[in-house]
Amino acid sequence: MQSTTTNFMILADPQLGLGEFRKRRDAGGDPVRLRERTDSHPSEWADEAARLARAIEVANKLRPDFVAVLGDMVMQWNDDRQLQSVNEAFSRLSPEIPLHRVSGNHDVGVDFLSPTTESLDRYRKNHGPDRYSFISGNCRFIVINSSLLDSPELVPGEAAMHLRWLEQELSAPTTDQIDHTVVLSHHPPFLQNISVDDGVYSLRPGRRAIVQVLENHGVEYLFAGHTHGNFITRHNQLRVIATTAIGLPQPGHRSGYRLVSVRPEGVSHSFHLLD
Ligand SMILES: [Fe+2]
Repeated sequence: MQSTTTNFMILADPQLGLGEFRKRRDAGGDPVRLRERTDSHPSEWADEAARLARAIEVANKLRPDFVAVLGDMVMQWNDDRQLQSVNEAFSRLSPEIPLHRVSGNHDVGVDFLSPTTESLDRYRKNHGPDRYSFISGNCRFIVINSSLLDSPELVPGEAAMHLRWLEQELSAPTTDQIDHTVVLSHHPPFLQNISVDDGVYSLRPGRRAIVQVLENHGVEYLFAGHTHGNFITRHNQLRVIATTAIGLPQPGHRSGYRLVSVRPEGVSHSFHLLD
């Protein structure tokens, strides 16, 4: 019989390599050159990797129905060593716990923002699809590639197709047992409210389009990462919950994970510090 509750765990922004990038940039390194480095070494992201490893241990103890990693798995989209390290960490997740990956701007953005045909191909080859839906228990989950909505300039066709696909997914009939639809995204569409520009911390051009689509279909919950801090906001019935980084949080925030429980009567969630 289908379960009436789904419990899942959110990890956001392991972002292996962020600490070293910041260190080198703050020491006067050229950010453009730093984005193109090819001589990275796993010792550079030991802190981020250790926190990700601890989070995976927690998941193995808690045994959620699945783990969702909400993007920015690595700092640099085309760094093979960062990819290898993050995959090694994920491989320690108990095989009975599915892992669902969500692409972040650092996973697909060649300038840390903009996807290209090449970066999308690489992501899909190494991580799997960047847009998909799945059902767990009583809930339908829709995974989007929010970087296509934020920085569509280099792949405008992909971006337009993405919104059409989202519309189709939300329109598709589901079984009677589905109580909720939850969207998993890297970027939160907005942080303060829909009319306030949050700079790079939420969606810019694609914000109103996606919020409109989600509203039209009565979506009530969108979980995101990207902010490296915890932020919860809402617009009409749409609640946006951004979870801090497992890797390196912003100053004033701490590393942690979120547990979400989807029951027929509603969705509840709680944040937990990693330490
Ligand atoms: Fe991000």
